[in-house]
Amino acid sequence: MKKIRKAIFPVAGLGTRFLPATKSQPKVMLPIVDKPIIHYVVEEALGAGIETIIFVTGRSHQAIENYFDISVELEDFLREKKKEGMLREINDISNLITPCYIRQRVARGLGHAVLMAKDLIGDEPFAVFLADDVIDAEVPCMKQMIDVYERYQCSVIAVMEVDPKDTRAYGIIEPRDLQKGFYQILDMVEKPDPKDAPSNLAVIGRYILTPEIFDLLESTEPGKGGEIQLTDAIKALLKRQAVYGYAFQGKRFDTGDKLGFLEATVEYALKNPEVREGFRKYLLDLYEEYATEAARRPGGDAGPPPKG
Ligand code: G1P
Repeated sequence: MKKIRKAIFPVAGLGTRFLPATKSQPKVMLPIVDKPIIHYVVEEALGAGIETIIFVTGRSHQAIENYFDISVELEDFLREKKKEGMLREINDISNLITPCYIRQRVARGLGHAVLMAKDLIGDEPFAVFLADDVIDAEVPCMKQMIDVYERYQCSVIAVMEVDPKDTRAYGIIEPRDLQKGFYQILDMVEKPDPKDAPSNLAVIGRYILTPEIFDLLESTEPGKGGEIQLTDAIKALLKRQAVYGYAFQGKRFDTGDKLGFLEATVEYALKNPEVREGFRKYLLDLYEEYATEAARRPGGDAGPPPKG
């Protein structure tokens, strides 16, 4: 059985939902507490045993390359100041991955971005990580998926139940229940209207795909939004071989969305040993302030803030 060793990170997106913050930096470089979004997702890949990461980038995305490279000036400075801990922290992740970079010159969609990595992947199954999706899990989400892959040796796609009114934001699967949280995918639709959605099981940004997907991507016509959609190529793949949907254990944050980004910031801050206590106290005080203010408003009936 071929091991999953390589992963594609399509990161060429323009991040328009986060303008102007993303005017001069890639959105995956925005920090959640003290690490850029992409750092969390690369950590997940490492935790799943991925060795090579192929970043499909765009113009003005050099910040990503610099982040996973060494910074001689910064290292000399930290060494001189005897800040060994910090030195280790900035180096740990870049020492552990072999990064490759490919430029996606024109934004033609997710399917096109994945196809750009065809020659670097070769004839082996591989992972795809959409770095906007940060998944907090005890066992890294991709590791859970690799366990499923090793059992069935077929493509595996992460899925999650969403509010039926939100299907327009996701690829949606038509599932055949196999076990709890494990489905054979019978069909897929990219961002359907709720009335046309085959279920409320949405594709989340983690995929394990067999290399047959590349030939299918090559013949995939532009679909939703005029873009070459990975969903459409997977839809063709599942006519040839089984593709499974796997409801992972963990909490997913859509950091490409302002609210999701803020939720991730709050939750990761509450886990961070350096700021946890102070931040928790701040949130409780803030809640009290809001609750008191709401109670003062005519007809206000806000209950007491949670204690503890
Ligand atoms: C992409 C995929 C979609 C998937 C989503 C998950 O859409 O095309 O099928 O459900 O990621 O985050 P995007 O969010 O890039 O528009």
